[in-house]
Amino acid sequence: MALAPSYGAPAPVPRHVAIIMDGNGRWAKARGLPRIAGHHQGVEAVRRCVQSCTDLGIGYLTIYAFSSENWKRPAAEVNDLMGLLRVYIRREVSELSRNGVRIRFIGDRGRLAADINRLIEESEEQTKANRRLTLTVAVNYGGRQEILDTVRTIARRVRAGELDPEMIDETMFGRALQTADTPDPDLVIRTSGEQRVSNFLLWQSAYAEFVFTPTLWPDFGHADLESAIREYQSRERRYGGAGG
Ligand code: IPE
Ligand code: IPE
Ligand code: MG
Repeated sequence: MALAPSYGAPAPVPRHVAIIMDGNGRWAKARGLPRIAGHHQGVEAVRRCVQSCTDLGIGYLTIYAFSSENWKRPAAEVNDLMGLLRVYIRREVSELSRNGVRIRFIGDRGRLAADINRLIEESEEQTKANRRLTLTVAVNYGGRQEILDTVRTIARRVRAGELDPEMIDETMFGRALQTADTPDPDLVIRTSGEQRVSNFLLWQSAYAEFVFTPTLWPDFGHADLESAIREYQSRERRYGGAGG
C-alpha cells in the first residue's frame, strides 16, 4: 500500500526515524536458539531497514545497537555483540557507500576496543561525503551520559571564561551534543512490545512521535516500517500548541 493518502497533499515521511531494536533474545529463545542467533538475524533486519529507508526517502536513520547499560550482560554476549559490530562495519561499508549512505556513530568510544574504534573512524571517513541517508549507530550510548558529557564540556568553557552562563540555551546545548548535525528524530520506533525509552536520545526525542510494535526486531521488515510511518502520519504534532 502506498504511504501517501489518496486525498490532499501527501503526508510527508519523517525526516528522521530512530529505532530501539529490541527482541533479538526473545526471537532466538522462541526457536530454542542461543541469543547470538537472534543478534545475527537482527543484523539482517538492519540491512533491510537501511534499504527501506533509502527507498522511502528518509534522510536520517538512527539505530540503538548497544546501550551504556548493556555491559551488564554476560561477557560472552557482550563479546558476540562487539564481534557482530566488527563484521557489520567490515562487510557493509562499501555497499552503504555505493548506496549513498553516510555512517556515523554516537556513544562513548572510550570503552570500545581499539580495533573497533579504528573501524568506526575509517567507515565515517569513507562515507562522509554521502548524502542520501545518514545512518547513525548508537554504540555504548546512553542519553543521560551524553547530556552529562555535554554539561561538563560547557562547564569547562564557562570556567575558562569563554562562555557566559546566560548564553546557554537549547540551540547552543543541542549543538554541543554528539548529534549536533542531525535533526531531532520525528519518529521513534521500539520493537518487541516494550514501551520504554531505555536511555535513548533523551534530549533529542522531546517532541518525537513514539510507535511501539510487538514485532521482534529480527522479524522487522519493510511492511512494519511502512505501518509505523502510516501511524506517524496519522498523528497531529502539536508541540504544545492548541492543535487544529
Ligand atoms: C536487542 O535485543 C539487542 C540489544 C539490546 C543489543 P535484546 O538482546 O535486548 O533482546 P531481548 O530483549 O532479550 O529479547
Ligand atoms: C535497549 O534495549 C537497548 C538497545 C536496543 C541497544 P534493552 O533490551 O537493553 O533495554 P531494556 O533492558 O529492556 O530496558
Ligand atoms: Mg531487550
